[in-house]
Amino acid sequence: MNILTQAVAIVKKILIYIAMQSEAQPIIDELNFEETSILNPALPMKTYTGVSSKHSYFLVTGGKSSMYGVDNVGTEPAAVGLQAALQFFDADLVINAGTAGGWQSKGAQIADVYLGKSPVRYHDHRIPIPTFEAYGKGSYPCIETAELAQLLNLKRGYISTSNSLDFNTDCSRLMEENKADCKEMEAAALAWICHLYAKPFLPIKAITDFVDHEHPTAEQFQENLAKTCLALKDAFVKILNNL
Ligand code: ADE
Repeated sequence: MNILTQAVAIVKKILIYIAMQSEAQPIIDELNFEETSILNPALPMKTYTGVSSKHSYFLVTGGKSSMYGVDNVGTEPAAVGLQAALQFFDADLVINAGTAGGWQSKGAQIADVYLGKSPVRYHDHRIPIPTFEAYGKGSYPCIETAELAQLLNLKRGYISTSNSLDFNTDCSRLMEENKADCKEMEAAALAWICHLYAKPFLPIKAITDFVDHEHPTAEQFQENLAKTCLALKDAFVKILNNL
């Protein structure tokens, strides 16, 4: 029995973290999840619950920033939101679904869906002190996804996290070191919380933009977001049905 088989054999309660409402809404609609307010009201996260014949679900989004009126993307809301959610919902499995940048040179296409491969790393935590360097990278585990990817004909890839949509030369160097296939803004922080709470973690990323393309990331992202979120929803539903 591999790690995935072991993990899914006991999965009943699934906690789902999705940073942006536009990433989450197709999933919420498709699965008829209902909004609840369970978390501390000081937190901006939105929460939803749902059930199927096999599982109960608790979905958390980053919610909106009351100061800036935009979705709370990035690592801090992800870590705080997942930690708070785990207080109320002692999940058997944590799934992160979201969008990411991919690499055309590595065969990615817009709206491709990737399952994460261990380890999940940061590319913006640079601490050039020998004893801290590995801590900065993170390198947190996720579940073994080879079987699931083969079954559902999905790609697999390494996920690299930072708090920036764009990137500088240091990010490029570290993403290369991380062998990144998916560049995004939450997974390593969520993987850290899962590591602390000893929860199996499954990151799922759909590609909205190419990191290795001259067209600005923000424009690619906005142009491809809606169709990529639909592809993410389709893959997500298939994945749930196979857990
Ligand atoms: N989410 C979608 N595309 C991204 C990118 N290129 N970088 C970080 N997060 C993303």
